Amino acid sequence: MDDKLPLTGQERQVKISEVISTRTDPHGVIAFANSAFLAVTGYASNEVLGKPHNIVRHPDVPRAVYAALWQALRNGETFFGVTKNRNKGGDHYWTLGYFHPDTRVGSAEIIGYRSTRKGFFDAKLKHDLDELFGEVRQAEVQHARPDQVKAGLEALKKALKKRGFGDYQEMSRLALA
Ligand SMILES: Cc1cc2nc3c(=O)[nH]c(=O)nc-3n(C[C@H](O)[C@H](O)[C@H](O)COP(=O)(O)O)c2cc1C
Repeated sequence: MDDKLPLTGQERQVKISEVISTRTDPHGVIAFANSAFLAVTGYASNEVLGKPHNIVRHPDVPRAVYAALWQALRNGETFFGVTKNRNKGGDHYWTLGYFHPDTRVGSAEIIGYRSTRKGFFDAKLKHDLDELFGEVRQAEVQHARPDQVKAGLEALKKALKKRGFGDYQEMSRLALA
């Protein structure tokens, strides 16, 4: 994440025609980004290939959300979730998508990860997620770096339970409606 990039507070709505697809190496370094990703983020392909996927990280999103994503992926599982990202111009964009590990045929060895995402239009859900992110971030910033994720994961679980969800993937499924 480039902390020097400005945030405009403006949303770049991802259109129905813009299905975003990325592939990374096992460390989350971008190996492929499709034209929809480039259109939405405003980056040229040579600006993103070989860069960590956190190039589009939005500071509002708690560390705990990415900890949950990586936990699932490293276990060889899929993750279905909403992301709020920042594009090159500082606008944010919301997506819902599948993340999954990529393995060699006949082997369980993970050789990278893929994501396929679409936009969604539910303004209330975006508002509710912003509120959830705020609660969890508040818990995270009270701790030094090594304990932030643990505190964040506990806060995320509590914030989701309060809203009637078992986990982040369950709340994300509302974006399908
Ligand atoms: C396939 C794949 C897609 C990802 N997509 C995003 C994304 O859209 N936005 C994002 O912030 N992080 C994404 N990540 C997670 C990042 O690798 C990283 O964990 C996250 O941005 C947190 O970065 P930080 O630890 O530097 O704060 C993705 C990871 C993988 C494996």
